[in-house]
Amino acid sequence: EADERTARIEAALEELGDDVVVLGHNYQRREIVEHADFVGDSYQLSVEAAGSDAKYVVFGGVTFMAESADIITDDDQTVILPSMEASCPMAGMAEALQVDAAWAEITAAAPDADIVPITYMNSYADLKAFCADQGGLVCTSSNAHRAFEWAFERGDKVLFLPDKHLGENTTHRLGMEDRIAEWDPWDPEGKDPAEVAESDVILWEGYCQVHERFRVEHIEHVRTEYPDANVIVHPECRREVVEAADKAGSTAEICRTVEAADPGDTWAIGTEIHLTNHLQRWHPEVNVVPLCGEACMDCNAMRQIDPNYLAWVLEELVEGRERNVIEVAPEEKDLAKVALDRMLEV
Ligand code: 13P
Ligand code: SF4
Repeated sequence: EADERTARIEAALEELGDDVVVLGHNYQRREIVEHADFVGDSYQLSVEAAGSDAKYVVFGGVTFMAESADIITDDDQTVILPSMEASCPMAGMAEALQVDAAWAEITAAAPDADIVPITYMNSYADLKAFCADQGGLVCTSSNAHRAFEWAFERGDKVLFLPDKHLGENTTHRLGMEDRIAEWDPWDPEGKDPAEVAESDVILWEGYCQVHERFRVEHIEHVRTEYPDANVIVHPECRREVVEAADKAGSTAEICRTVEAADPGDTWAIGTEIHLTNHLQRWHPEVNVVPLCGEACMDCNAMRQIDPNYLAWVLEELVEGRERNVIEVAPEEKDLAKVALDRMLEV
């Protein structure tokens, strides 16, 4: 069955030729990644999407990534997501309307402050547009610290959305950890105007359900099992996990670290399990081990992109039918592009 599906995908890709480019996020399963023209993290894929002139961009990733591809590509290019169910739960934790209401409360609590909103790439286009409109920008885990620096050159406070862990880890990296306040829109007591007025970095209460599952005990356990192990974790992990690791780095940084390792080195990887599996395959000379068991690190949003759906959307394109098109509303597109362009500049 798998062979037959692979043959179908290859035949459709051959038929479509240069009309289609397939992008595969590092967290996609092997059966998707092996059909991708480009594999990378969300930042690298947005650069690839921007540079491609293919008529169809088929995105192996989640909704917010496909939206960003639609924003960045030309109007005559069509972005297709093989499953409309592939939505990152973290992106859903900061809805634009809810952020708009919070913005009113926060700016009222700190009326003399110049607050710059930064949203992580893992957010929907309307929130990216909101951030641009308020003088802010987008970042990914590879450039969050540069986005903070950009913001502090223009304002005196940052509101960071939606990932509190990436926000906290970035604030530590910049040596500003004693200036953090949290904003929990779901908890009336988690929104303290006095704290906000005192602090310089306001962190929204959002998190990645995959990376948040890593614990310090996982690191202790892997070090017992592999005494020579080096540990690298994604900055969406909790602060104490980042502190206990040898290194924290974005998806691209994790890939670079394993690429640069000496043969025989052991690296324990604290991120989504599919990337760890790919790294094991791509670098057999390095001992790449997952930081905790498989079930613990599987992103069910990424997993929605089933190879059968990839075969289906491609075959439909061959027949002239565009399925699962991701199209950002025109009124949001231009502003969201401003926020993404500011990121590409920093
Ligand atoms: P990257 O920005 O590192 O690609 O991460 C995307 C993501 O979903 C992380 O959980
Ligand atoms: Fe979202 Fe986390 Fe999955 Fe990334 S790994 S898509 S942040 S849930």
